[in-house]
Amino acid sequence: MSKFTDPWHFPRPELAQAYLQGFDLGLTSARGLFARRRMGKSEFLKHDLVPAAISSGYLAAYTNLWDDTDHPGQALATAILQATQAKGLDKFWEDISRPISKLKGGGKLPLGIEAALEVSLAEKEKLAVPAIQAALQASDKSSRKLLLLIDEAQVLAAPEHSGVAHSLRAGLDIRKAGIKVLFAGSSEAALRQMFSRSAAPFYNWAPLEPFPLLGSKFVAAMVSQVATAAKQPLGLDEAQQAFTALKETPEFFRWYIERYLMYQQQGAAEALRYTQARVNDDTGYARIWKELYRPDRAVLLLAARGVQDLFGAATLKQLKELLNDEDVAATVPRGSLRRLTGPKLQLMARVDHGAYRFEDTEFQAWVAARRTVD
Ligand SMILES: Nc1ncnc2c1ncn2[C@@H]1O[C@H](COP(=O)(O)OP(=O)(O)OP(=O)(O)O)[C@@H](O)[C@H]1O
Ligand SMILES: [Mg+2]
Repeated sequence: MSKFTDPWHFPRPELAQAYLQGFDLGLTSARGLFARRRMGKSEFLKHDLVPAAISSGYLAAYTNLWDDTDHPGQALATAILQATQAKGLDKFWEDISRPISKLKGGGKLPLGIEAALEVSLAEKEKLAVPAIQAALQASDKSSRKLLLLIDEAQVLAAPEHSGVAHSLRAGLDIRKAGIKVLFAGSSEAALRQMFSRSAAPFYNWAPLEPFPLLGSKFVAAMVSQVATAAKQPLGLDEAQQAFTALKETPEFFRWYIERYLMYQQQGAAEALRYTQARVNDDTGYARIWKELYRPDRAVLLLAARGVQDLFGAATLKQLKELLNDEDVAATVPRGSLRRLTGPKLQLMARVDHGAYRFEDTEFQAWVAARRTVD
């Protein structure tokens, strides 16, 4: 953790305490929270909840599974180990991977070479299941409770990670008194899937709640921080209106503040106008759209307009019209939706029984406003 505190971070100690108290009461050992993108989940988990948990005597492990969606097992094992044992991480991977190096070498290797064998990421992921088990066992040795924060936890719901998810679930199940878990994510639909499908490893495991959003206190704190740095203070009312105009999104509001500070002579209205343009560019809707395959755009367009049955005959007819192509195959929507829900794009989420929805309702509105696929 940085020893410098960020003057622009708006601390949320009460919210952190509320989560910790919920765990301390022992009513629940796991919770899930969701909020749209850029609303301050990760910032809260890392900069408020982790420090608060540590001051309350917990060990705290944070990991964001989006940092490396292919290797959630390692990310989890590493985070737990980092929290439980300050040193010895390299040695841990070395120990746990020794059987593999032996296999690879087919027996004894000349001295020094074995040690030099790098454990590749893919190999580590195979080791993730024993690694998670070992990491949890390491946490058993501590007298302190562990708070495990899993950001973008819906990654675990992907079929290819079910081994890791089952092993984590089994390990956590027997440690409910000692390990508290908070699952966070930006896709409510994907998180719901994770906890509500009876076949899923985390079925019924954590209640899912909306993450409390930042509001007028956050705006006021930013405005007072501006006053310490600006020749021309920013009016509170004007800032509140800008926050609303920016869809109450903390990240966009921070862009606005930044712009205001850098070009004070241009005034607050101009800062807002600039930021709104930046939001449009930077959320990159036009860019995303351009990079999509045409059939994917057509499917998105129909979904944005509210078409429910994306695999039906009526949809296929509309797709043919949109693409101006009579030969569109009936399998096209399926392929498109696989890409649109996949980890690379993550534009749509499967809700249930062939129903899909947009991950980002702003993007949905943007798409719905279009007339053609080009
Ligand atoms: N408490 C806060 N104080 C000041 N700025 C904040 C705060 N929370 C969020 N922000 C601003 O909003 C940005 C986005 O926050 P964060 O990355 O936590 O969102 P998120 O909900 O995790 O989004 P995503 O789902 O995209 O990961 C931060 O980089 C920061 O600029
Ligand atoms: Mg985040």
